[in-house]
Order: sequence, then C-alpha cells, then structure tokens
Amino acid sequence: MRIAEFKIEEWMNKYEAIAKYDLTTTCISPLSINELPYSDEIFNVKLGYGDITGSFRLKSAINSLYKKEHNITVTHGAIGANQLVFLSLLERGDEVVSIVPTYQQHYSIPESLGCNVKLYFLKEENNWLPDLEELDKTITSKTKLLCLNNPNNPTGSVIPDWMLEKIAEIAERTNVWILSDEVYRGLNLIGKPYSQSIADIYPKGISVGSMSKTYSLPGLRVGWVAGRADLINEINHQRQYNTISISALDDYFSAVALENRDFIAQRNFKIMNEGIRILKEWLDKTPRFRCILPKGGTTALLNYGLNIPSREFCKNLQEKTGVALLPGETMEMEGYVRIGFCAKNLAPALELIQNYMS
Ligand SMILES: Cc1ncc(COP(=O)(O)O)c(C=O)c1O
Repeated sequence: MRIAEFKIEEWMNKYEAIAKYDLTTTCISPLSINELPYSDEIFNVKLGYGDITGSFRLKSAINSLYKKEHNITVTHGAIGANQLVFLSLLERGDEVVSIVPTYQQHYSIPESLGCNVKLYFLKEENNWLPDLEELDKTITSKTKLLCLNNPNNPTGSVIPDWMLEKIAEIAERTNVWILSDEVYRGLNLIGKPYSQSIADIYPKGISVGSMSKTYSLPGLRVGWVAGRADLINEINHQRQYNTISISALDDYFSAVALENRDFIAQRNFKIMNEGIRILKEWLDKTPRFRCILPKGGTTALLNYGLNIPSREFCKNLQEKTGVALLPGETMEMEGYVRIGFCAKNLAPALELIQNYMS
C-alpha cells in the first residue's frame, strides 16, 4: 500500500529531539508510574495476551466517559484506532469528507485506500468552526464517511454541542458515518471539560479516544473506538491481523488512570490555564502574530504575518533560537504555525520568538 509522507511526524522526528525549546508538542507533561495511584495488585497482573479486545475493567472505565453504554475495542493508541476504522469501513472509490486542519491520518489513509477524498477547510474568520451550509453542500449522497477532530488539533476550536447535533443531522440525511477523533475530549477550557461525544448522539457516530492527551499517558500507547456493534465487530476482525491485544500492563495502568481521572484533570487544567495565560499575554505584546485563542485541547494555530513559507520560517527560527514550532504546511495550513501551549518553558521560548521577530 502506497501512502503519503506523514508530514507532521516526519518534521517532528527531525526537529523535536534537537530543539532547546520544544513548542511542537501536543502532550501535557507525561505522568510517571509513580504518580499513578496503582497498588500491589500490579504484581498479580498476568502477562498473557489477556482479554483480547481490552479488559472488562478498562472498557468499563472507558464507558464511564460517555453518556451511553457503548461497544468498545481497545487499540494501539488513537493512531491504531483511526487506522482500524478506515480499514474496516472504506473501500476503493468511496467518498470521504475530511475536515481540515486535522491529523493527517484522516485524509492520507483514505487516499491510500483509493477513496475519493474531499477536504473541507475550516476558516479563521469562522473561529475555525465549520460553516454548516458549506459543509452540507460538501457532503453528498455519495459520501460514506465524514472525519472530524473535536477538540481540534491544531486550532484548539471546540465544536459546540448544538453544532455537533446539526452536523449529525446533516450526516443522517444521507446516511453518512462520522468518525470523530476525540483524543482531546475532556480538555475544554471554557464550559464543561467534556463536550458531547458523537457516539452518544448519533448511531453512526464513531468516537476515537486515547490515553495520550487528556490523561497525559502517551507512553502507554492505548486508545479505543466506541461505536455501533456491527462496526466494532468488523474492527475486531481487522484487528486480529495487527494487534491481537494490547499490553496487559498498559491495560492495567489505563484503567487505574481513568478511574482516578479527577486528579489528572486538576493537574492538567493548572498547566493548560497557565499556558493560555502566558500565550495571551505574549500575543497582546506581539501583534505580528494573529491567533484565535484555543477553546480546548493543547495547541493553537498562529498566523506569523510574514510572506515566507512556514517550513523556512520554522527552520530559521529553530536554528537561530532553539525554539521549535510546527510549520502550518505540514497540516495543509501554509502561513501558519502550530504551538503547543502546554509545553515546558513556554514563557522564555515565546520571549525568544519575540526577540527574533523584532
Ligand atoms: C488528533 C490526533 N489524533 C490521534 C493522535 C495519535 O494519538 P495516540 O498517541 O493516541 O496514538 C494524535 C497525536 O498527536 C492527534 O493529535
């Protein structure tokens, strides 16, 4: 299977490790095992394949994140979850609408499968939210799947619950599946931390979640898909070929973390609120950068107000200051850069950018 270069991952592999100040990150400082309230029961965890699609304990903890009880399968991160959804649903020639900017999997995998992929671009003047009329026109009777990412990486926009319901109504008219990548769900900065999940409001809604962002445990490599029984059965059929099961230890730690998620949320919101405060203050005194402040998630998209390609801008900036930003071009958003506002040393890194620009 031929597939496009995964532009973000390629860029980060090259520049993240050598950065003095890494603002490309989407994670909120990962937790260590010591910070998790595990008990001696860890020593009794059998290191077999375990429950193939995830333990009952972990699936119950995942289900507690939703309003309704869902069919769930546990995967190798959200990256594994997304891929399994595409492999299970799509065939050559299917039409897929992907709302961008987003995680590149959401258009490059369908393209690699021979699907007809239509990109629907979010606009800054709409606060990085979809225009419902435009989206309605983009989705046709031929569309099989709509992909979205909510809260959105990189813009930090959060689809309001009423709007998600409207999107579900649009999809329902032509019987379209919706894959909602919800890896940042639970990180809303305004209103309730968790917005509506697509799986709770739409029968053909597929929710992908993960331990990586909201729960600060990307090293566990645990994600999941919640959706309709027939889809989960099909995913489990595909999954036999690339997963068997996830690690028993990852399963255990994920369950413990989700059962104790309040303390993780408390810690993470402290970091997020401080990050937003620093970003806002810096934007106020750095008018060259334009930004719609994020409503959730861990990233913001900034227009840097210069007529040079974003790859060049980021490369030069990193060479001169040691600060790594992610070029918008890697997310099909030329003219912009992504910043992870929960990154360590955010304030000094922003100061370096300000000096570099002046
Ligand atoms: C929107 C989105 N989906 C999926 C992933 C992959 O997450 P995971 O670490 O759970 O595989 C990322 C990682 O950055 C992401 O931002």
